[in-house]
Amino acid sequence: ARGASLTDFAEKIGVDPAQLVQMLFGLGEMVTATESVNDETLELLGEELNYVVQVVSPEDEDRELLESFDIELGDEGDESDWTVRPPVVTVMGHVDHGKTKLLDAIRDANVIEGEAGGITQHIGAYQVSTEVEGTERKITFIDTPGHEAFTAMRARGSQSSDLAVLVVAADDGVMPQTIEALNHAKAAGVPIVVAINKIDKPEADPTKIRGQLTEYGVIPEEYGGDTMFVEISAKSRINIEGLLEAVVLTADASLDLQANAVQDAQGIVIEAHLDRGRGPVATILVQRGTLRVGESIVAGPAHGRVRAMIDEYGNEITEATPSRPAMVLGLSAVPGAGQSFLVVEDDRMARQIAEKREARERAALQAKRRVRRTLEDFMAS
Ligand code: GTP
Ligand code: MG
Repeated sequence: ARGASLTDFAEKIGVDPAQLVQMLFGLGEMVTATESVNDETLELLGEELNYVVQVVSPEDEDRELLESFDIELGDEGDESDWTVRPPVVTVMGHVDHGKTKLLDAIRDANVIEGEAGGITQHIGAYQVSTEVEGTERKITFIDTPGHEAFTAMRARGSQSSDLAVLVVAADDGVMPQTIEALNHAKAAGVPIVVAINKIDKPEADPTKIRGQLTEYGVIPEEYGGDTMFVEISAKSRINIEGLLEAVVLTADASLDLQANAVQDAQGIVIEAHLDRGRGPVATILVQRGTLRVGESIVAGPAHGRVRAMIDEYGNEITEATPSRPAMVLGLSAVPGAGQSFLVVEDDRMARQIAEKREARERAALQAKRRVRRTLEDFMAS
């Protein structure tokens, strides 16, 4: 249980809700049966009734909920169905070192090559392709505004990115947020590629950056380490292809990126908002399986049928395979960034799961409010 209403809790342990209201009254708490109480109160009530109340984490609770519908989040299916998927990359670095400029440069370079004259849409993630050693390779970039990149990565969890590009401005050098970004990548266990940016500037000193990062244990290949350093200019568009190649080579060398593309899709919400004309709009990243228009999905507390999918060029697509980002229309509500999405059997199941999640979120929120209210009363008395 996690912040539940007395009625729900009473049902779970098979007692009369009125008895719980009575017990709480005896403890000096005025709560109605339909009101939500916090975990501590549930534990207390349980103890009084000789029950052991186990408070489970929201993640575990959600897993249990899905299991009750015979769904296993993260299920990769049969290994024989696995195929190679593109790496998912996050760009990190200190303020003003050129993260946004670089993401723009990568996207623009690809539009010119790919869809002649195509206008890119900002959907929070995009996929590009690049030729590496004679083979066409794809890379997915998560494109979140600089100042939000950390919090967003934290919210989405480390599982959403395979690799990080660490941008360091050659005229400024290693700065506090460079180190913070580095620590994030280390904690998440993702390999990094260092992009030494702004090499067009006369005061650029790439050698200094190699030396500085070596002190932090990030050793360039040319010094015998295993991290690729690439000198670029996001502004003057110098060596963007070289950076993409380094990303692919690093992914090949240190990651075994495979996914099952034949199962029902599962993945993560990158960002979502309410569009005046189109209703709730969510950019999702498919992590396994293939998502198709017309399928029933649940995304956090939202549900619906995929009405349309739109790619980063504004084109409608009918399916999305692993590592592909897409904007999804047709949800009942706006899910939160970092929440999972998954395809389920039908609309009914989607709605049932979404409703249960929503009720739980509401209960948790109510319980939180109650705690605050009780605290305020306490402070006032
Ligand atoms: P935040 O999102 O605020 O953390 O910054 P950012 O890392 O996204 O940096 P942004 O791309 O906004 O670039 C910051 C400034 O550096 C801008 O004025 C860019 O024009 C400039 N800039 C970025 N890349 C280059 C480059 O390769 N060369 C030069 N000369 N300037 C650059
Ligand atoms: Mg930025």
